[in-house]
Amino acid sequence: MMSIADCRIIMLPKVTDPRGNLTFIEGGRHVPFAIKRVHWIYDVPGGERRGGHACRELHEFLIAISGSFDVVVDDGERRQTFPLNRSSVGLYVPNLIWRHIENFSTNAVCVVLASTFYSDDDYIRDYRVFQRGAAV
Ligand code: TYD
Repeated sequence: MMSIADCRIIMLPKVTDPRGNLTFIEGGRHVPFAIKRVHWIYDVPGGERRGGHACRELHEFLIAISGSFDVVVDDGERRQTFPLNRSSVGLYVPNLIWRHIENFSTNAVCVVLASTFYSDDDYIRDYRVFQRGAAV
């Protein structure tokens, strides 16, 4: 079983430059999976929350490309909040971890790198179902 200890902050390369900084990600090197999909969450109204699910197979890496937000991860027993607010730092969330994102700042942009194509069947959207699975 996965635990929240399997979630981790990853510092990305940062090429500082007086003309503006540059950060990059190579799949399988800076994140522990090959990147198959990228999506982003933006224009989040104040007080809204995203996520609220776990995935059976999907691994993700979340970055606050702009602004800030908190990622709350939960393994069915324990919870941890990771504040993200730098575009050169991200959070790796493996499969079978419940997560939601909250406390979005104005103009926050959350970029998510994903290990699989989108599949609704992979989602666990009922926390009690997730907890039963996590307890096995
Ligand atoms: P969802 O993953 O539930 O959003 P979040 O976890 O950020 O709150 O996805 C919301 C909707 O968008 C859902 O109907 C499925 C669709 N969607 C895609 O079609 N492709 C994707 O890659 C993602 C992430 C979502």
